[in-house]
Amino acid sequence: MNLERLEQAFGSLVSPTPAQLRHALVSLSPCMEQLGPYIPEPLNLPYGRKVLFSTPHVEVVLIHLPTEQESIPHNHGDSFGWELVVSGTLTNMIYVQTNNENEVLRAQTTHVSTGEYYFVEPGEIHAIRNNGQSPVVSINVYSPPLRNCRQYCPFEPTT
Ligand SMILES: [Fe+2]
Repeated sequence: MNLERLEQAFGSLVSPTPAQLRHALVSLSPCMEQLGPYIPEPLNLPYGRKVLFSTPHVEVVLIHLPTEQESIPHNHGDSFGWELVVSGTLTNMIYVQTNNENEVLRAQTTHVSTGEYYFVEPGEIHAIRNNGQSPVVSINVYSPPLRNCRQYCPFEPTT
């Protein structure tokens, strides 16, 4: 995955639509062989995270979520994004806000296998988890670049 290929796929996008952003990600056809040397190890988060490429309109991020790890529920501010699982199976959990603005309730869980894409809408609250036996690696593209992301507390019923 050299910078030239990222520049080719994403460099000319200006305020892309979700369809245009997905098309650019598909055109990149990333695979583990290319991404291997760049895979980030987790440091201060449950997952490793590395920005591969960014412009004022687009940000491309590589994520490495080891087995049994889970992110905190969060949104992506006003950005929308496509996330392509390149290795492993990702569990994507979608949350809704409760009456307490900091607290969220899990509403839906989906599984995203290697080679599958999923869309994250602006403002959508989600968390990612790896329930599998092998590491999850995903390549995520956002427009505009992520800013004002917010984290939430998952509400755990006591009964
Ligand atoms: Fe996210």
